Amino acid sequence: MLAMTRADLGKEPTEVAAMFDQVADRYDITNDVLALGQTRAWRKATFRALEPQSDDRILDLAAGTGSSTAPFAAIGAYAVPCDFSLGMLGEGRRRLPSLPFVAGDALALPFADNSFDGVTISFGLRNVADTSAALAEMYRVARPGGRLVICEFSTPSHEAFRTVYLEYLMKALPAVASKVASNPEAYIYLAESIRAWPDQEELSHLIQRAHWSDVQWRNLTGGIVALHRAVKV
Ligand SMILES: C[S@@+](CC[C@H](N)C(=O)[O-])C[C@H]1O[C@@H](n2cnc3c(N)ncnc32)[C@H](O)[C@@H]1O
Repeated sequence: MLAMTRADLGKEPTEVAAMFDQVADRYDITNDVLALGQTRAWRKATFRALEPQSDDRILDLAAGTGSSTAPFAAIGAYAVPCDFSLGMLGEGRRRLPSLPFVAGDALALPFADNSFDGVTISFGLRNVADTSAALAEMYRVARPGGRLVICEFSTPSHEAFRTVYLEYLMKALPAVASKVASNPEAYIYLAESIRAWPDQEELSHLIQRAHWSDVQWRNLTGGIVALHRAVKV
């Protein structure tokens, strides 16, 4: 569904921020449990896809607690975690005090044009109210030649696997979340937002329409997650 927005899922941007504020303290651990231990592999693939250099300036948008930013900082890049949930930023600052956390909205980024060599967003674009506007903002702040990598839940390509996965999403995930999460409702929203999100092909069209070039994607874990890459020419 290309035209899906937060409003369709019944959540305003302020409600999305408040929802992440509430889950911030247990976000990383819950994430790992619900992703059945795949988070580390997905982060590693995202890191490699961006091809970061140690002197790069990298924007990690919708960075939450900074877990998705840390691998870039670890190689010496100037990696900026940006998010609009003060709860997630606070938790991040407590755990990773060396990262330069910035409060900012993906739809009006507090950075100048052409500021970053690489822009990445992991499990965040789906939560932003206007996907195309966020892609345009990421394009604006990337320098010419700058790279984009989006890591996001997607659509498993194998039909039987897709059926089992959707069953997990709609039934097991909310049940497990009710045991481990601080706000189980957020994980019902997670399942619904994944189902409503564009598939691999549709998302690559949206990226192209935001003027990014050389758009490519590949599946991780059978398409549960997809990585989209593009360049600003
Ligand atoms: C699922 S978390 C992902 C966090 C992190 N990137 C990771 O991989 O663990 C999604 C994040 O998107 C943020 N977010 C949603 N809409 C946003 C917006 N318009 N601007 C900035 N951050 C946003 C939320 O606050 C939340 O921290």
